[in-house]
Amino acid sequence: MYFKNQQYIKRYRMELDLRRWQHPRIGLPMDYRLVGWNPSLVACHAEVKYQSFRGEIDAEVFPCLGEYEGCHKLMIEIGNKDGFVPEATWLAEYVGAGQRKSEYCGTIQAVRTQRGLASIQNIGVAPLHRGRGIGTALILAALMGLDYTGILRVRLEVTAENRGAIDLYRRLGFRTIRTLYKTVELAPVAPSG
Ligand SMILES: CC(C)(COP(=O)(O)OP(=O)(O)OC[C@H]1O[C@@H](n2cnc3c(N)ncnc32)[C@H](O)[C@@H]1OP(=O)(O)O)[C@@H](O)C(=O)NCCC(=O)NCCS
Repeated sequence: MYFKNQQYIKRYRMELDLRRWQHPRIGLPMDYRLVGWNPSLVACHAEVKYQSFRGEIDAEVFPCLGEYEGCHKLMIEIGNKDGFVPEATWLAEYVGAGQRKSEYCGTIQAVRTQRGLASIQNIGVAPLHRGRGIGTALILAALMGLDYTGILRVRLEVTAENRGAIDLYRRLGFRTIRTLYKTVELAPVAPSG
């Protein structure tokens, strides 16, 4: 007989009001560029998502993020949603190693959940490219796309342990509006004895 091993993970729902948003300029380091949505890029988004989330806390909370197949399925699902917002879906690309050796290194998507309300999903930057403003640029580009499509408020959810991401969201104007607890089932454990 095996026992379920459950854990409650604390998460924050954060929100930003685009009506009071100041439209900061998107600044990217010279060797990077942002690439807009195209359905042929699904696998690229999935690969960057996988590279960004594997080994991170959110891959424990959402195991699909820790596997390429899970990320690919997730991207297809997001792209097929009624509320999917292509204008707020971006890839970051590193082009510093020459044209033939560029690589995608960051991803973000957004989905409209209600009239005037959208949620930003699964922002990820591959480890080697972090701390250079890529995450900030991806979020700002997504916010601009959402603003352009008439969205008024933007939400996201973040694991409380993910202090770096929370600091980043706060710096960009997101505020916590609710604390949530997500049940995570860890691998089943056999009773001892
Ligand atoms: C969160 C994440 C997208 C940030 O990407 P990034 O390109 O490093 O972000 P930026 O360079 O624009 O901003 C970094 C800033 O955010 C904060 N920050 C972000 N991630 C951090 C981390 N892992 N550790 C410490 N600070 C971090 C810091 O305040 C930093 O500020 P600084 O510019 O003064 O140094 C990236 O760390 C990541 O992909 N993490 C794994 C996936 C994940 O957890 N995604 C969020 C799901 S809600």
